[in-house]
Amino acid sequence: MADGAPRSIRLDALAYGGDYNPDQWPEEVWLEDARLMREAGVNLVSLPVFSWPQLEPEPGVYDWSWLDRVIEILWNEGIRIDLATATATPPSWLIRSHPEMLPWNEQGQRLEFGSRQAYCPSSPVWREHVVRMSRAMAERYGEHPALALWHISNEYGDHVARCWCPESSAHFRRWLQARYGDLDGLNDAWGVNVWGQRYTAWEHIEAPRQATGPVNPTQLLDFERFSSDALLELFQLEIDVLREVTPDVAVTTNFMSLFRELDYWTFAEVEDLVTDDAYPDPADPHAHVPAALNYGLMRSLKGGQPWLLLEQAASAVSWRDVNVPKAPGRMRIDSLQAIAHGSDGAMFFQWRQAKYGQEKFHSAMLGHRGEASRSFQETKAFGAELERLAPVRGTRVRSRVALVVDWDSWWGSSAPESLPSQRLDWLAQARAWNAALYELGHPVDAVRATGPFDGYDLVVVPNLYIADVAQAAALADYVAAGGQLVVGPFSGVVDATEKVHDGGAPGPLRDLLGVEVDEHWPVPDGHAERVELVSVGRVGAQRRIETTAGEGLDTLAGARYSTGEGYANPIWGEWLEVHDGTEVVGRYASGELAGRAAVTRRMHVDGTAWYVSAVLESAGMLAVFRTVLAAANLPARERTDTDLEAVTRSDETTDYTFLLNHGRHELTVDVPEGAVDLLGGGLDTLRYSTDATLTLPSFGAAVLASPRAAHAPFITLSDSTD
Ligand code: GLA
Repeated sequence: MADGAPRSIRLDALAYGGDYNPDQWPEEVWLEDARLMREAGVNLVSLPVFSWPQLEPEPGVYDWSWLDRVIEILWNEGIRIDLATATATPPSWLIRSHPEMLPWNEQGQRLEFGSRQAYCPSSPVWREHVVRMSRAMAERYGEHPALALWHISNEYGDHVARCWCPESSAHFRRWLQARYGDLDGLNDAWGVNVWGQRYTAWEHIEAPRQATGPVNPTQLLDFERFSSDALLELFQLEIDVLREVTPDVAVTTNFMSLFRELDYWTFAEVEDLVTDDAYPDPADPHAHVPAALNYGLMRSLKGGQPWLLLEQAASAVSWRDVNVPKAPGRMRIDSLQAIAHGSDGAMFFQWRQAKYGQEKFHSAMLGHRGEASRSFQETKAFGAELERLAPVRGTRVRSRVALVVDWDSWWGSSAPESLPSQRLDWLAQARAWNAALYELGHPVDAVRATGPFDGYDLVVVPNLYIADVAQAAALADYVAAGGQLVVGPFSGVVDATEKVHDGGAPGPLRDLLGVEVDEHWPVPDGHAERVELVSVGRVGAQRRIETTAGEGLDTLAGARYSTGEGYANPIWGEWLEVHDGTEVVGRYASGELAGRAAVTRRMHVDGTAWYVSAVLESAGMLAVFRTVLAAANLPARERTDTDLEAVTRSDETTDYTFLLNHGRHELTVDVPEGAVDLLGGGLDTLRYSTDATLTLPSFGAAVLASPRAAHAPFITLSDSTD
């Protein structure tokens, strides 16, 4: 393959299948599995994820025979393989001959063998054996026609994302040397004069273990970065071997949605295909809302390219305290949601439900009752239906809104101590902003703080605690080019070494936002302050706020508080000073900050930068984003319902609009006239009426094909809905 040419999964259909663990079953079951897979429309399976001990029972002695047979049996049925390098877990003989490769926890205890992922990511022994195993797999199966994709390791960091062993500390020191050059650089970056932590030799530096008191925050932050990079290095080692032996075969590793421990932007850069494992909790009736954000990230990690849902549960999982099954129809709607958001298929953990071991109560496509099981019946039905969606393969989701995801800020703002409040939660904040936009009808893409932002009408930044000049410049350029930008609380606070920006927050975003934070003002536990929004005019049209009673803070007009009681603000506030020319859009309405600016906007010729200094309850965020969307000339649903989701995938000629009803009550929506439902005649009883409305029953879905429009069709609840 020519350097730089994209490698893609070798499959000419939407992927359907799951993890397959044939080594847990006698050989006669393999034939039955292949037959039933074919019956269910399975075309891809992931294996052998945890089978290193079965493939190399003794050091250097390989037994490929069983895997050869399994692959042949599957290939005879036309089923392709997402071939794992089998490096997700080490064999016991490796650990017992090299106990130093076991990971340590923060308290300095070595974690024992007996589960999976029993390795320190930095261990040289582990790395050497991983590379050897990967090469052996590639040399054995690299030419096999069934090979569709390399599946490297499995869910990096799932069990062990951080290791505090001596080897990790040594690796951490090397990483720090590369980052800072010399000890002066490190001492300066870490601000060691505080609490007397100056280092005089590299060997004095340790991974930040449990200490006598709060640990140096920059040391903590660097350890987060290092730990993500240590696993990335491991990933890269395998990629290098596979690219050498099988240069044409695409590689992936399965992600875990919005996972704090790993900076997936960096992982996605080095792989060919983004894959994700998603386990929305069936006990949570709103689980599909954060799932939409997860999927928005997945499609964005490689610039809008299709990705693949590599694992989900057919019904219950077995790792929560209480594992609720999926109601009939829920697996289907969950799968369709991932496909709506750009996944080119729907895969599961796992094909056949285990008979023993840690995951015997985890559901599977083929349940304990076999062909008769409800999960198999639903699997088979959905497999047949999936064929109707063939036209959407390779198409791209169209979103007008992007949400900034920045792992540095996530790590820094969620340190375990030494922050203004432990209640400001990066993920909760990102989810809350996504939820409001979701309800108003907008699927959001994810984007780095440096962009690219072109093509988006609205960019939202729920939190950018760590902000540098390059990020600020990229955001300012976006606004200068006419964009609408909304920035959330506790942003622009520190630089990349966790030093507070001169003059305080929002640091390099100060001129863009037109505000200064005098003090962060978190809300005490058990209190809920309030924020009121003032009614603002449209950007450009009037450039004014409809207000009456100026209080010195508004620069363009006075303030008229809304007549209601405002919105609960239970977590966070800020004492803002507002620059001349910055408008106050919302004010604190209770507590010490009462009357002061809470939400602002600053217009910059064509674009606008909004600042939301509070953590508002959902109704408050809905109100803020209603105002923002109106100013951005973007549509918003008048009536909202979290059960309704509409996402459009498009090619050059056609929009495929997925309409999903995630709830228990039927929903009637207005749809483009003349659209054709790809799922028509499927499991639903969809009802079209003459005035182009469509009724979706509980868990109902439609995929409407219509000629490509300038913007993706904007779907609203019909007035005729009760
Ligand atoms: C993860 C793992 C799988 C399996 C599932 C169970 O996604 O990758 O091996 O353990 O969880 O939900």
